[in-house]
Amino acid sequence: MQPDVGVVHGLQDLFPSVESLNSGAFFLSKALQMTLHNQLAGRLLNTVTPVGQTFPLAACLPVHSEEYQVLQQMMASGKEYRDFIVNWEADGRARHVLIDSFTKSDAQGLFLGMNVLMKDLGNFAVLEQKMQKTDKLATMGKVAAGVAHEIRNPLTTIKGFLQMFERRFTDEGRVDELAYTEVMLSDLGRVEALITDLLFLSKPQRIEKSVCSLRTTLEDIHRSVAPEAAKRGIDLHLMVRQLPTLLADGPLLKQAIYNVVKNALEAMEGGGTLGIHAYPISGSIQIDVSDTGPGIPYYLMDKIYDAFFTTKDQGAGLGLPICQRIVGDHGGEIRISSKGFGTTFSFLLPRFES
Ligand SMILES: Nc1ncnc2c1ncn2[C@@H]1O[C@H](COP(=O)(O)OP(=O)(O)O)[C@@H](O)[C@H]1O
Ligand SMILES: [Mg+2]
Repeated sequence: MQPDVGVVHGLQDLFPSVESLNSGAFFLSKALQMTLHNQLAGRLLNTVTPVGQTFPLAACLPVHSEEYQVLQQMMASGKEYRDFIVNWEADGRARHVLIDSFTKSDAQGLFLGMNVLMKDLGNFAVLEQKMQKTDKLATMGKVAAGVAHEIRNPLTTIKGFLQMFERRFTDEGRVDELAYTEVMLSDLGRVEALITDLLFLSKPQRIEKSVCSLRTTLEDIHRSVAPEAAKRGIDLHLMVRQLPTLLADGPLLKQAIYNVVKNALEAMEGGGTLGIHAYPISGSIQIDVSDTGPGIPYYLMDKIYDAFFTTKDQGAGLGLPICQRIVGDHGGEIRISSKGFGTTFSFLLPRFES
């Protein structure tokens, strides 16, 4: 095999001793030909091929593996990645790695491939610290739930008066005052929604089951998120097969699915594909909500259902706990698969035989 052109200007030129790097380093060409820069890369890629030799990526990682697909999709995006955390399996051990990639072009600007630095995070101390921090937040959250109830009553009073102002300003044609009032009402709406979520979680809920059309529920959700998806450049696919009758609390179930769909939208910063797929499987109805976002790292998997756990600046961290509660109350379960790129939340709901 021809030595890959990218290697000539590879990392060896930047670091005199690439072997001393505490990260696996390799070059991957556009045609998915791999050249290791150091031995550590070989360990992370399950290969004993010597440093500097070029071989197909498929020779060290199975084509259908998450790991292969992560690299393939990074290549397809043509983008550079920084501090990109990915679930990674090497020498039989699940771990997460931190990836930095640097695109490589020839003198004419033609894209050749990318140099990649891959750091094995193992049980990184920093991540531990972050997790302790979220534990503290969760405790604070419980206190917040306690006061939520007390906040609701004055909110109702404020809202009543604001609505009165709204009517009066409309009648009197006071445009500025009307605009301010509307901003206040809209913000108040957000506070109310948060309080509702907090109270929902803080006590058991009565669920009222009736025969409901999952198709209509999913179509409603589809309709309500379509503008947001379009704004973010996300393709939305809804596929509902012939379903058996479902006995459920319609509005609650809608909220559960909506929360997950909203997360999927929020996970895709630069566009992507969001699929909602409902179909019957033995004894159950399954609803899959899948996205092509960055996925959920292993070390967060058992945190995401905690109240107030969020990785978002504007997040409240209540969407998934509420979702879990609703699905549990319906005798169903949620499964998550997050492999490399993308996440699928699957709801399994017991079907109702009439
Ligand atoms: N589809 C997804 N892709 C990536 N991360 C996700 C996804 N869904 C949930 N998460 C993670 O789970 C966390 C908790 O979600 P959630 O309870 O809805 O709270 P919030 O959306 O307010 O952050 C999110 O902050 C995010 O880190
Ligand atoms: Mg959410």
